[in-house]
Amino acid sequence: MLTLSVFVILMASATVTSQAPEGYQQETEVNELKDQLAELKDVVAKLSRYAMMQQFSAEERVRSEGASGVNIVRGDTLGMYDYYTNTHVGHGMMAVHDHSNYDRTVGQGELVAVLNGVSFSTRHNDYRMVMASPNSTDFHAVQDVPFPGVPPQVTEKLTVPEQITEMQEWFKAFAEQNHTLRDYREYFKPVLCYLEGTWTINDKFKEPFHSDRHHLEAGSWEELTGKVRYSSYTGSKSRMENFAYLPTIMMSINETTGVPEYAQWNYRMLCSPLKEDVPLSDLRPVDDLSYRVVSGQSRDSILNSRRARFTFYEEDEKRFPQYTKLDRLFHTIPGLDNGPADLHQDSYGQQVLSMAPSTTDRPLNTGYYHRMFKSDRKGAMGIKEYVSE
Ligand SMILES: *[C@@H]1O[C@H](CO)[C@@H](O)[C@H](O)[C@H]1NC(C)=O
Ligand SMILES: *[C@@H]1O[C@H](CO)[C@@H](O)[C@H](O)[C@H]1NC(C)=O
Ligand SMILES: *[C@@H]1O[C@H](CO)[C@@H](O)[C@H](O)[C@H]1NC(C)=O
Repeated sequence: MLTLSVFVILMASATVTSQAPEGYQQETEVNELKDQLAELKDVVAKLSRYAMMQQFSAEERVRSEGASGVNIVRGDTLGMYDYYTNTHVGHGMMAVHDHSNYDRTVGQGELVAVLNGVSFSTRHNDYRMVMASPNSTDFHAVQDVPFPGVPPQVTEKLTVPEQITEMQEWFKAFAEQNHTLRDYREYFKPVLCYLEGTWTINDKFKEPFHSDRHHLEAGSWEELTGKVRYSSYTGSKSRMENFAYLPTIMMSINETTGVPEYAQWNYRMLCSPLKEDVPLSDLRPVDDLSYRVVSGQSRDSILNSRRARFTFYEEDEKRFPQYTKLDRLFHTIPGLDNGPADLHQDSYGQQVLSMAPSTTDRPLNTGYYHRMFKSDRKGAMGIKEYVSE
């Protein structure tokens, strides 16, 4: 818009130059036009800033409505009351489903999520079990999550039926969480899978992450947004579930030129192998009434279905712990700088310190995920610990 206005005005000024009979009048008119141009530039810069603040205001609203998480999955039910429609539960919790018929694929359908104030919707995900590269800082570099080995007690059996019988004991030990029966912990490795999103400055259209089954059905961000707007306004959907609403925002305005700089939201799903064991008792079932009331199912039958949801908490009693096992596990997952990330942040003259229990304060590696941080200096309220999510 800015480029266009400048062009038009310069053309006009050229016309004035060639037609003006007297030098003095000509100079005055050119000066007037120059002033107008400067004014217009200023107006465009201000309007751009206003558009940017509108976006920020929308984000702040969402950010203050609750924490990050999944809002809703694709809708395919209706009923007598509002709560008969899908929420975060539908055919599965957060649209999870089985895809053991594909290589390393975890089934997960479309969903609407919020990450730090940014609300967006995904395509049908069906992500692969890959992890952020442990040794490369290349953008989005990944490698396969290593599979655990087969217990030697199984492989040393001579016939296949004997191996099957022995392997069944290992599954039984895992299912009953009895590591006296067989110490399954070396062979049944927990993996934490997560949704990660970020603003990118690359305006090239980019598939969020690889799936053997799904890809975005568009050749550019504009085409994708156009298709999403069409389906939102008309109440239709992509039959193959290959649309995603990934917002574009004005991220900044160049102080010198007044030209806006845009950022594109993108997300991906990936996994991270854990070194610690996660006993199943750390997972506590959550009673999602909206689904249980509508379906008339018992808690037990939901618990044994893909609609079960769990909260992760390893303590015996309910407290307000500021650093839990979940924080410890999550802090083993790197952000976009991948495994080698070693970042430290000083904000407003305060050091950002780790919340992990320790006798001495240690700087937080902000290149890895965390929910809270500690400051080296007391804040206005005399506290040092803050939630950063
Ligand atoms: C990272 O490690 C993987 C697997 O160990 C290896 O294949 C790859 O070449 C390494 N990459 C770099 C950049 O060192
Ligand atoms: C675990 O397995 C051992 C060995 O089979 C058995 O003796 C023990 O009773 C089991 N523990 C529980 C809690 O079932
Ligand atoms: C603003 O634009 C000028 C001219 O294109 C460029 O040299 C400068 O690096 C830009 N500033 C920033 C902060 O990107």
